[in-house]
Amino acid sequence: MVESARQSQEPQNPEELYRYLLDRVTHMETRNLELREQIRQIESDKRYIETQKIRYEREVRKLKSEIEQLRSPPLIVGTITDVLDNGRVVVRSSAGPRFMVRSSMCIDPEKLKPGVRCTLNQQSLAVIDILPESYDAQVYGMEVIESPEETYADIGGLDLQINEIREAVELPLKKPELFERVGIEPPKGVLLHGPPGTGKTLLARAVAHETNAHFLRVVGSELVQKYIGEGARLVRELFDLAKKKSPTIIFIDEIDAVGASRTESTTSGDREVQRTLMQLLAGMDGFERRGDVKIIGATNRIDILDRALLRPGRFDRIIEIPLPDVQGRVAILKVHTRKMNLDGSVSLEEIAGLTEGKNGADLKAICMEAGMFAIRREREAVSREDFLDAIEKIGQDFERHVFKSGYGAMFA
Ligand SMILES: Nc1ncnc2c1ncn2[C@@H]1O[C@H](COP(=O)(O)OP(=O)(O)O)[C@@H](O)[C@H]1O
Ligand SMILES: [Mg+2]
Repeated sequence: MVESARQSQEPQNPEELYRYLLDRVTHMETRNLELREQIRQIESDKRYIETQKIRYEREVRKLKSEIEQLRSPPLIVGTITDVLDNGRVVVRSSAGPRFMVRSSMCIDPEKLKPGVRCTLNQQSLAVIDILPESYDAQVYGMEVIESPEETYADIGGLDLQINEIREAVELPLKKPELFERVGIEPPKGVLLHGPPGTGKTLLARAVAHETNAHFLRVVGSELVQKYIGEGARLVRELFDLAKKKSPTIIFIDEIDAVGASRTESTTSGDREVQRTLMQLLAGMDGFERRGDVKIIGATNRIDILDRALLRPGRFDRIIEIPLPDVQGRVAILKVHTRKMNLDGSVSLEEIAGLTEGKNGADLKAICMEAGMFAIRREREAVSREDFLDAIEKIGQDFERHVFKSGYGAMFA
């Protein structure tokens, strides 16, 4: 039908026929081009879909293997205690007993050493993999990454003590050759002791600020743990980390929590504290004197400290931080009033004279209270009167607390 219709339209005249054919040919050619373009388009779509398919297949495989892994039984974590020949090793699982097992061929024999942690198959206890060395997250938490803000300039008085601690801690870290030349061994550890609130923690923080050493800070009570052997392990990991990161300063604040003298007491809690102390002693003995690890301890109860901690080779430089005298108090007041707006009537010497027996923390509180009084009285500068009221207020608060609780000294 179509053919016949077309034929009927076909021109008879050769001229027209020629034009008509030319027309048709051009038309066909453009059509051809169009179709080719479409083919290309479709082919590229096809390719795209194929890669897409491959991607999804890969994803499916990955998810399947993930599911497989999630379904596989857990591995036991153990420690290698001995390496025998022929791929046999002795392991101790976390549960306690020791086993002789085989190790996987895929493990680098170099890494198979006593003391490393490994994973064990649940049934055969074969060593599957070696785990990287790890420290307790708690130990990492002790590292002070940003150095503290305090500097020696923030400490009022205590010039002698600052000098001593610089000699004992900074000098061996910065200029070890001085000690070598003279042929003496620098102190290993420094113990700061004195009444509460006199600036022991402050001093240690300032030392950390002024040296470039890594600073590990731990409070004695953090080392007292719930389970047997945990405290000792923490101490061991702390010292390991210190050695690895050296130069390092370890600061153990309130060391009396673990360092109290060993008694005959028999509660298991006390024994755990003693185990921790013994690990601490062993750790301190393990350092080279000229090494890059220094220990600073701080306590306000030196009287209850175990003598073993204080013998030479451990905390062999003992620095007393006493309650400030008049000059000391003036210096501390100067530090804390540095940024305060004082009027002409204030004499720091007079205030120092009126605060006999107060420590640095009290003086800081007095300065703050004086500022509060000034604010309450709607003045911009702090006057002598504000300070006198503040001294009275702090004195009263202090007495009330001491008589009510009686725990003041213990938890200061
Ligand atoms: N000598 C001092 N110079 C300046 N401020 C001090 C001084 N002693 C104590 N302080 C203030 O008291 C606060 C508590 O002191 P701190 O070092 O924690 O006492 P402790 O000796 O109990 O560790 C410090 O943050 C600081 O503001
Ligand atoms: Mg302190």
